[in-house]
Amino acid sequence: MKISECREEDLALLEQHMPTLGAPSRHALRFARHAEGTGTYLVAWYEGVPVGSCEVRWDGCAAPEIQAAHPGYPEVNGLGVWPGTLRSQGIGTALIRAAEERASGRGAAGIGLGVEKNNPRAEALYKRLGYRPATPYLDCWSYQDGVGVTHRVADACTFLVKELP
Ligand SMILES: CC(C)(COP(=O)(O)OP(=O)(O)OC[C@H]1O[C@@H](n2cnc3c(N)ncnc32)[C@H](O)[C@@H]1OP(=O)(O)O)[C@@H](O)C(=O)NCCC(=O)NCCS
Repeated sequence: MKISECREEDLALLEQHMPTLGAPSRHALRFARHAEGTGTYLVAWYEGVPVGSCEVRWDGCAAPEIQAAHPGYPEVNGLGVWPGTLRSQGIGTALIRAAEERASGRGAAGIGLGVEKNNPRAEALYKRLGYRPATPYLDCWSYQDGVGVTHRVADACTFLVKELP
């Protein structure tokens, strides 16, 4: 397994193996931020197939309450490992470590990530990796489906933070 930064030519494979909702795809949106420098889109590969990804959002979590509470903290966003049969083998941990290395390399004092209140397994993983629950917030996001209808979503989340060396 290796982790690399997303390239434009990876997008078709990402969508094929890890389909996302909406158009443009979430992979394309993340790559656009990667290309403009506001994000770093990390992809885990196994035998030439993308098996996981996450994005480091350098401008932090979009929620205003998190911006206020944790200014200057980049956010690990959209962490996922596919297919489910490949979970619990260290890929998620490796993606988080790769995100932390990049944040440390840029001199960030800390890094954070949000987890839905109904995702205790992911929260337990983050706590094991040194993250502590810090601030509750509503993660508001939207996507456009294949016929152009915009769907708005608000998820109750907790923002966890970790100080970096
Ligand atoms: C949450 C998620 C990204 C974690 O990725 P992952 O690759 O499964 O994470 P890891 O393998 O690093 O760690 C998870 C578990 O594997 C265990 N583990 C890690 N490396 C291992 C190894 N080499 N051998 C056996 N077990 C291992 C960990 O102890 C941990 O234990 P758990 O099963 O009790 O949780 C993944 O489960 C996922 O995509 N879930 C669905 C989407 C999601 O919830 N995303 C998070 C949004 S906040």
